[in-house]
Amino acid sequence: MSGWPVELRSGDVTLRPLRRGDRTAWARLRSANAGWLERWEATPPAGSSAPPSFPAMVRELRTQARQGHALPFVVEHHGRMVGQLTVAGITWGSLRSGTVGYWVDRRVAGRGIMPTAVALVTDHCFRSLGLHRVEVNIRPENAPSLRVVEKLGFRDEGLRRAYLHIDGAWRDHRTFALVAEEVPEGLLARWLAARPPHRSS
Ligand SMILES: CC(C)(COP(=O)(O)OP(=O)(O)OC[C@H]1O[C@@H](n2cnc3c(N)ncnc32)[C@H](O)[C@@H]1OP(=O)(O)O)[C@@H](O)C(=O)NCCC(=O)NCCS
Repeated sequence: MSGWPVELRSGDVTLRPLRRGDRTAWARLRSANAGWLERWEATPPAGSSAPPSFPAMVRELRTQARQGHALPFVVEHHGRMVGQLTVAGITWGSLRSGTVGYWVDRRVAGRGIMPTAVALVTDHCFRSLGLHRVEVNIRPENAPSLRVVEKLGFRDEGLRRAYLHIDGAWRDHRTFALVAEEVPEGLLARWLAARPPHRSS
């Protein structure tokens, strides 16, 4: 897939490919954020196996990336890993769409890191990869994540009933999307022009 692997940067926020060597830093982050992430984490539906180990997750995501179906990024702030952003379920043909999922360390939440990361990756998907649509699915209860897409101007496409298995049950999600024609100036440029001036990520 052209456009992968790639490193994307704006100010102090960098997205770079997830790698096997991230295991220790990833495990530390996940352990420090267990309670923060639990409510929003995908879980295996009843009867499925346990979530994969870190090496299995990296192997699977890298295979999907080689096949053109995923972009698995680490999010760095000032050069330190603070979270993950994955474009998953990339579909080609006449759809050309991908779904963005993300989380960030609660100790750096509220600095506009994830809106910057989502804007970077959306521009990359439209301009380098050739996707036409990017979507984000969010539980209606997840106010911080709803703010991320609201601030970036993603369009509300409505409610998907029992859409994803999250935190042990099938949960409703709201879907937000952008198509390339909606951001001719680029999403990062639009976000940087609109964001509050005191934020410095
Ligand atoms: C959703 C998430 C990625 C947002 O990332 P972020 O880099 O903090 O994004 P922002 O800085 O734009 O903050 C978004 C909103 O979070 C809220 N927020 C700010 N500081 C916060 C803090 N310390 N703790 C919790 N929420 C906070 C604010 O409502 C903010 O909106 P505002 O800009 O109008 O004030 C992050 O909250 C997170 O990782 N949450 C847990 C995992 C998750 O929900 N993943 C997404 C699943 S769809």
